[in-house]
Amino acid sequence: AVLQSALIKEQREVREENMRRMLDWIPKDLNRAWEDPMPETGDRHFAQELRSVGSSAYNIPEWKKDTFGKSFTFDQRTKLSIQEQRQCLPIYRLKEELVKAVIDNQVLIVIGETGSGKTTQITQYLAEAGYTASGNIICTQPRRVAAISVAKRVAEEFGCRLGEEIGYAIRFEDCTGPTTVIKYLTDGLFLREFLIDNNLSRYSVIMLDEAHERTIYTDVLLGLLKQLLQRRSDLRLIVTSATLDAEKFSGYFFNCNIFTIPGRSFPVEILYTKQPESDYLDTALTTVLQIHLTEPEGDILLFLTGQEEIDCACESLDTRMKGLGKNVPELIILPVYSALPGEVQSRIFEPAPTGKRKVVVATNIAEASLTIDGIFYVIDPGFMKQNIYNSKLGVESLIITPISQASAKQRAGRAGRTGPGKCYRLYTESAFHTEMTPTTTPEIQRVNLAETMLTLIAMGIRDPFSFDFMDRPSSPALISAMEQLYSLGCLDEEGLLTKPGRLMSEFPLDPPLSKMLLASVDLGCSDEILTIIAMVQTGNIFYRPREKQAQADQKRANLFYPEGDHLTLLGVYDAWKAKGFSGPWCSENFVQFRSLRRAQDVRKQLLTIMDKYKLDVVSTGKDFKKIRKAITAGFFFHTARKDPQGGYRSLVNNQIVYIHPSSALFHRQPDWVIYHEAVMTTKEYMREITVIDPKWLVELAPRFFKASDPMKMRKRKCLEHIEPLYDRHETNSWHFSRRRA
Ligand code: CDP
Ligand code: MG
Repeated sequence: AVLQSALIKEQREVREENMRRMLDWIPKDLNRAWEDPMPETGDRHFAQELRSVGSSAYNIPEWKKDTFGKSFTFDQRTKLSIQEQRQCLPIYRLKEELVKAVIDNQVLIVIGETGSGKTTQITQYLAEAGYTASGNIICTQPRRVAAISVAKRVAEEFGCRLGEEIGYAIRFEDCTGPTTVIKYLTDGLFLREFLIDNNLSRYSVIMLDEAHERTIYTDVLLGLLKQLLQRRSDLRLIVTSATLDAEKFSGYFFNCNIFTIPGRSFPVEILYTKQPESDYLDTALTTVLQIHLTEPEGDILLFLTGQEEIDCACESLDTRMKGLGKNVPELIILPVYSALPGEVQSRIFEPAPTGKRKVVVATNIAEASLTIDGIFYVIDPGFMKQNIYNSKLGVESLIITPISQASAKQRAGRAGRTGPGKCYRLYTESAFHTEMTPTTTPEIQRVNLAETMLTLIAMGIRDPFSFDFMDRPSSPALISAMEQLYSLGCLDEEGLLTKPGRLMSEFPLDPPLSKMLLASVDLGCSDEILTIIAMVQTGNIFYRPREKQAQADQKRANLFYPEGDHLTLLGVYDAWKAKGFSGPWCSENFVQFRSLRRAQDVRKQLLTIMDKYKLDVVSTGKDFKKIRKAITAGFFFHTARKDPQGGYRSLVNNQIVYIHPSSALFHRQPDWVIYHEAVMTTKEYMREITVIDPKWLVELAPRFFKASDPMKMRKRKCLEHIEPLYDRHETNSWHFSRRRA
C-alpha cells in the first residue's frame, strides 16, 4: 500500500501537466489544449509542407526506428462470402483437433493470436460437435461491447437473428431466447448466474474468454469453476488467452493441456519517440495526420484512455481535417468505447471505401477484445485508465496509468494482422524498458472488493480468506471489504450474511448503491432513487461541443439543483419524461439522448427486481431531504467537509478532494457533501455530489459513525462533530478526530 501510494503520487506528478489539458472540465484549459498548431483555414499545400518542414514546426515527434522496415503495397481485400471468411481463419485447419481436445480434456487452455478465430469459432465448432444437446454453450467477455459485437457476428455466420440460436446478455440487457444455444455474456453477469445456480446445470461448455485480462470477475469465476469441475465431470471449461500467461493458467488448473493456434501475423515496425512527449494527445493527433498525409494506404488505430478523451480527440481531428481543405483525402473518424451504441460500433468493422482511410480511436477495448481488419498503423501513447483502490485510505480512483509491456506488445500486434505494419509509440524506448511493468496487475489486487465479497458470501462461501484465488488479494483489502459490508449492514458481527445483505446481493449493483435503494424503500422515496441510480450508472449525461461550450454550459446551469448533482440528474430525467422522452428536448439542452435511453432501460430492469422481491416503489414528491438521506445511507464513506484551507477533506481518510468543475455545486461550495465517485486527474475530484447535513451520518450509518462525546468537546464542535468509529486496521489515516485515541 505504501508502494501504491508512492506510485500514485509519482504518477500524479508526472501526469499533472498532460492531464490538465485534457480531463479537467475547465474551459480555459480546454481552450489551451486545443490551440491548433495546424493552419486554421484550408491550405492545400499543407501535406507537402508537412513533409518538407519537418518535425519542429508542427510539433511532430522525431522517430527512432527499432526493427527493420519493409516497404509493402496495400493488399486489396477481396470480397469473400462469410463462410469463406470463416475458412480463412487460422483456427479452421485445427477444427477437428480442437474438438477432440475438448472431448478429451475437462479443462483446456487455448492460446492464439488475436483474430485467429477463438471467440467466434470455438463455440460454433462445439455446437456442431453436439455439445448443445446436453446444455448451452457460454462464452464470457470482459467487456460489454465485445459481447454484443461478437454475438452479432456469430449470429450472422450461423445464419440466425440475434437472440435466437445465438444471443448475448450484458448487465441490464438480455438478448437471448428459448432457442438460444450459444450465449455470449459479460463475465460479471455470468458470476450472477453462478449465484442463481451454483452447479450451472444448464450449461455444457464454459469458455472464459480473454482470461489474460484478469478482470476481477474472471478471477472469481476461475476459482468457482475450479471447484465446480470436481462436482461436474461432464462440464467442459476452455480458458483462452491472447498472451503468454498460458503456463500460469495451466498450473492453476492442475497442469491441464494447452492448445496453441499458430499465429499468422506480419512484422510490425516499432517506432519510439526520441524524447518524452509532454502532451501525448496532441502528439497522437499530429501523428494521425502525419500518417494520413504521408504514408501508403491502410487504416489507423489510436489508443486513448476513455470516452471524454476520445470524443475530444475525434472532434479535434475532424476540425483539423477540415482545416486542411478539400484537396486532402478523406479520413473517416470512428470512436470506440463501451458506452457507444451498437450501430456506431458495427461501423468500425466495415472496411473503408477504396481510396479512403479510416482512423479508429479506441480505448483498451481494441487491444484484444475487438479485431479490426485492415489496420496497418497503430499509435500507442502508452496509457490507459485504471480503477485503483487504496484499501488503507478507502478510496477508489480512476487513474490514467502507464500500460504494461505486455499491453504495448499486444497493441503493436494490431498493426500486423493484414500486412506488415507500423506502431508509433509515443514514448521513448528507455521508458518502455524502465517505466513499464512487464504485465498488468490483476484487477482483483487493485479494486474495491466489497461487491465481490458480497457475491462470494451470498454463494455460501463462508470464508473468502481461504478462497482459492489465482492471485490472492491482500489481507487489508479483504478486511476492508468485509468492514465496508459490515458498515452497510450486509454482514453481522460474525461476518454472516444479513437479510438486507441477501437482498442487496440480488441487485446487479455496487453495495453502496443497493444500500441506497433499500434505504429509499424505508424512507419512502424509492421511485426517485431508482432514477438516480439509473442515471449515475449511465455515465456522461451532458455533452459540450467545442464550438458551443458557453451555450452548453448555460443550458446545463439551468438544469442545476442547489441540492446537488444527484437531484440535478433526477431533474433532467423527469424533465425529459415530461417531454414524452423526446429527442429534440435532449439536443436543445445538450443532454445525451442515448444516455437517457440507457438510463430508462436500467431503471426498468431495476424495477423488475424490485417487483420480484416485493419492494415498494414510492414517490416522495418534492421532499428532497428524504432523497438526500437515502444517498447518505449508501455513500457515507464518501463524505467530505469543506476545508478552511480550500477544497474539501474526506472524512474517513482526511484526503484533500475537490468539487469537479462540472458539478452543480462548483460555485456553491457547501460545508458538507457526499460524492458518488472520486476521479483522479490533476487533482482528486469528487463527481456527482450532494449537500448533506452531517447529523444524518450518525442516524443512517450507526455502524460507521458515532457522535463525539459532547462532554469532551468545545461547544462549537459539538454542533457538527462526527467521528468515524475506531479504525480496526490501525491506519493513521483516519485522524479526522484522533483526539478520541
Ligand atoms: O478471438 P480471436 O481474437 O481469436 O478472433 P475472433 O474474435 O474470433 O475474430 C475472428 C475474425 O472474425 C476476425 O478476423 C474478424 O474479421 C471477424 N470478426 C468480425 O468481423 N466482427 C466481429 N465482431 C468479431 C470478429
Ligand atoms: Mg477473442
